[in-house]
Amino acid sequence: MLFICPHCNKKHTIDEKKIPATATKARCSNCGKPFALNKTQQPSAEAPAEKKAPPVKKEGDSVVRKLGISLSKGGVGKSTTSINLSSGLALAGFKVLLIDTDTQGQDSFMLGLKPKAGLTELVTGELSPKECLTKARDNLWVLAGGKNLAGVKRLIDRKDYGGEMTVAEALKPVENTFDFVIVDTSPGWDPLTVNVLFYINELLIPVALDIMALQGLSEFLRSISSIQKYRPELELKYILPTFEDKRVKRTSRILNKIGKIYGDRLCDPIRYNVRLSEAPAYGKTIYEYAPGCNGAQDYRELVRKVANDPSLLS
Ligand SMILES: Nc1ncnc2c1ncn2[C@@H]1O[C@H](COP(=O)(O)OP(=O)(O)O)[C@@H](O)[C@H]1O
Ligand SMILES: [Mg+2]
Repeated sequence: MLFICPHCNKKHTIDEKKIPATATKARCSNCGKPFALNKTQQPSAEAPAEKKAPPVKKEGDSVVRKLGISLSKGGVGKSTTSINLSSGLALAGFKVLLIDTDTQGQDSFMLGLKPKAGLTELVTGELSPKECLTKARDNLWVLAGGKNLAGVKRLIDRKDYGGEMTVAEALKPVENTFDFVIVDTSPGWDPLTVNVLFYINELLIPVALDIMALQGLSEFLRSISSIQKYRPELELKYILPTFEDKRVKRTSRILNKIGKIYGDRLCDPIRYNVRLSEAPAYGKTIYEYAPGCNGAQDYRELVRKVANDPSLLS
């Protein structure tokens, strides 16, 4: 692309591919002053930009499924579900990318990983996409979260426009090699959550079947509808009851109530299972830590539902 320095009129031809997605300014090598990188600027006459036809998806080509696991409330099983759904899909033979968008960066710990880089470096363009991914298991890769995601939030906030697409743009070069991209979100509602909702197409909401089960759900759903106005492709696909304890009478009442509203989208519950809370300390998924326990059985059922294939992992 051709950029003309507004201060000294020096022409710069810059390969668009080499401009990080997040870059907004460059410094003129002639006069040393900064100028805006307006990527919609006219293409250079010397190096005409190649006009690529949009990729044509052939019949049978797989399309990556982008699924987010989200609810503003904490402690409802978002990370537990992200880990065990991703690793279950990977065990079933799908290529899976798990993205941790929480500043606590727990997903890597839960999988026994110590990643050198993650989502932050991908978004800032500091490292190549390949360097940002950590291989976790056969068929499973992780884009780690962690404290430095705070910098990504600031970067999103500073953008005058298009901030909500920051994560989606950064993920474009990596997503197509996967069958599933699973995104774990942090509690609360912040610029990263909004970015995730502008990226995923399918939403899974875990609902903990405790005393406060439905608290926060309707407010969260209202926020989701406000995003759906701009992104109609964002679909509430699964409601996953978690921490089911059949001894608690209220549980079946709550399940009936949710079932009436959500019908088919209601998944079989994940039972309260102490093994699920022990596995992360060993850096293991539930299938590695206690493959025969209720928690493993319940998450296998979820894998079958999400992949829409009852024959998987049985
Ligand atoms: N079905 C379950 N049975 C027992 N403990 C669970 C279950 N699901 C999650 N936990 C534990 O509950 C805590 C919160 O779960 P977590 O997945 O971290 O929630 P979130 O990501 O929504 O904050 C963790 O200690 C986790 O190990
Ligand atoms: Mg979590």
